[in-house]
Amino acid sequence: MRLSLYKKGRLVVLISGSGSNLQAILDACQSDVIPAEVVCVVCDRKDAYGLIRAEKAGVPTQYLPWMPYREAGKTREDYDRDLADLVKQLDPDWIILAGWMRLLTLSFLGEFSGKIVNLHPALPGTYPGTHAIQRAWEDFQQGNIDHSGVMVHFVPDEGVDDGPVILTEEIPFLPEETLVEFEERVHHVEHDILIKAIISLFNS
Ligand code: GRF
Repeated sequence: MRLSLYKKGRLVVLISGSGSNLQAILDACQSDVIPAEVVCVVCDRKDAYGLIRAEKAGVPTQYLPWMPYREAGKTREDYDRDLADLVKQLDPDWIILAGWMRLLTLSFLGEFSGKIVNLHPALPGTYPGTHAIQRAWEDFQQGNIDHSGVMVHFVPDEGVDDGPVILTEEIPFLPEETLVEFEERVHHVEHDILIKAIISLFNS
């Protein structure tokens, strides 16, 4: 997707937590490393620090909690339809799942074919779902693997942390490294690879 010289791309970023990857995107947009702006940050958790990061950067936020839907007996599809309506109004070029912790159904995914990108702190086909970094590190402790990694991929369907790969980077384990130290290294790689992947979207 090539842009004209003066038109910035429109990113919508979905988050659930600390938002360190969101921060990497905000910084890259601010410094024109990515030829885009974050037009909105959507979050399903009220206390997510990522919301504060967005506000500090002057980026609009939308909070869409799941609990009222659950309490009203509504379905995940109901939630995802409302989420899709919200995001459609923002007219995004790309939707970036940067630590978004809800599984999305086709009610959302089907509305944005080819436009949804996810970051996962493990290599393709490994450790889908939560606690991927910890599970990989534990496997290293058991002597089962000697590296893990990070990937950025498209989200075509309801497969968990699965889809056409945009970029990957392997991360070798270091002897004596604690889980906390390994996590820090993984996050550092994530912040780097996510920006490279988004740049590649605008060059494709
Ligand atoms: C990242 O490790 C991401 O890959 C995973 O959740 C974490 C979010 O971190 N899905 P942050 O909120 O961007 O700091």
